[in-house]
Amino acid sequence: LLALTLALAPAVVSGALYPKDSLVKMIDTKTFRSAMKQNQTTLVAFVANWCGHCQRMVPEYSKAALGLYPLIPVYAVDCDENKALCAEQGVKGFPTVKLFPRGKYAPTVPYDSPERTASGFYYFATRRVPNRNQKLYRHEQIEPWVQQHSDKDRVLLLSKNKDVPLLWKVLANKYRDNFEFGSHRDRKGRTSVKLGYEAGSKKESKVLVYPAGAAKPVLFEGLLKYDSISKFFDSIIDGTADLSAANEAAKEEEFELSEEEQEIERKQEAQRLALAHGGFTDMIDFEEAVKKYGMDFHDSNGYGGMLSDMPKKKKAEDKAA
Ligand SMILES: *[C@@H]1O[C@H](CO)[C@@H](O)[C@H](O)[C@H]1NC(C)=O
Repeated sequence: LLALTLALAPAVVSGALYPKDSLVKMIDTKTFRSAMKQNQTTLVAFVANWCGHCQRMVPEYSKAALGLYPLIPVYAVDCDENKALCAEQGVKGFPTVKLFPRGKYAPTVPYDSPERTASGFYYFATRRVPNRNQKLYRHEQIEPWVQQHSDKDRVLLLSKNKDVPLLWKVLANKYRDNFEFGSHRDRKGRTSVKLGYEAGSKKESKVLVYPAGAAKPVLFEGLLKYDSISKFFDSIIDGTADLSAANEAAKEEEFELSEEEQEIERKQEAQRLALAHGGFTDMIDFEEAVKKYGMDFHDSNGYGGMLSDMPKKKKAEDKAA
């Protein structure tokens, strides 16, 4: 067995620590630079293939990437191949894990706990997404907020949840130069009704857009997924489509997860189930969450990349219409 282990060892050392299909993307200097221009909260590990701690960190860091997908990108940089970058980043030992709260536009935060666990990385990243969202606790606060920022495009989340979803925080951080972000807990849908919409189902969220100068909102009619909302926001920013046309396009989008996304979702579900059954003893905080939400953790929290339930498949006649 020992001989076999030794024979296999060099293969491990020469290969990349994270395989191509991992949610942890190995990036080089060039991709690092372009990632840093995105203004997103990003987690980066600076590693070397031969370093034992780096190898042992792989499963935990990968689990964290799974939990953070698709909201916070998780990367690894091979310092043997990107020496200048690692020097510039002040890397003195391996692994060095750093959070870039807003790409290159905000100071980095080093991960300095010796416990390199999935929950450690997960909460380190999610708790440090800069807060650019204003919570509007009472519905009376909405009108003044709308007026106060009337020269800008404003986006408002009406959510049934008590906590501001990570997805919304991530969007507010990414698009803070472009929109004013607000959120309001519309527990029973009364605010929706006051604004002229339906109260909506138990977990239904709404994203309202107030174009600059307008006092009346436009309801975003697309899927409440990270990529769909981002696409909609991008189209407002680049002005290629007017708001109503962009909304028409968003409305047409079908809810179809790619096979890769389905696989990720299945793994996320499995991870949460394992958590619910005490599968990962190191994830104390996750266990806390399970206690708080009960066994239907996934049901209460939804898919990480969405603000609401999975939409039902469109009926054939809807499609035809
Ligand atoms: C990122 O933020 C900076 C400064 O806030 C801004 O100049 C730049 O245009 C933003 N980039 C993107 C891609 O939004």
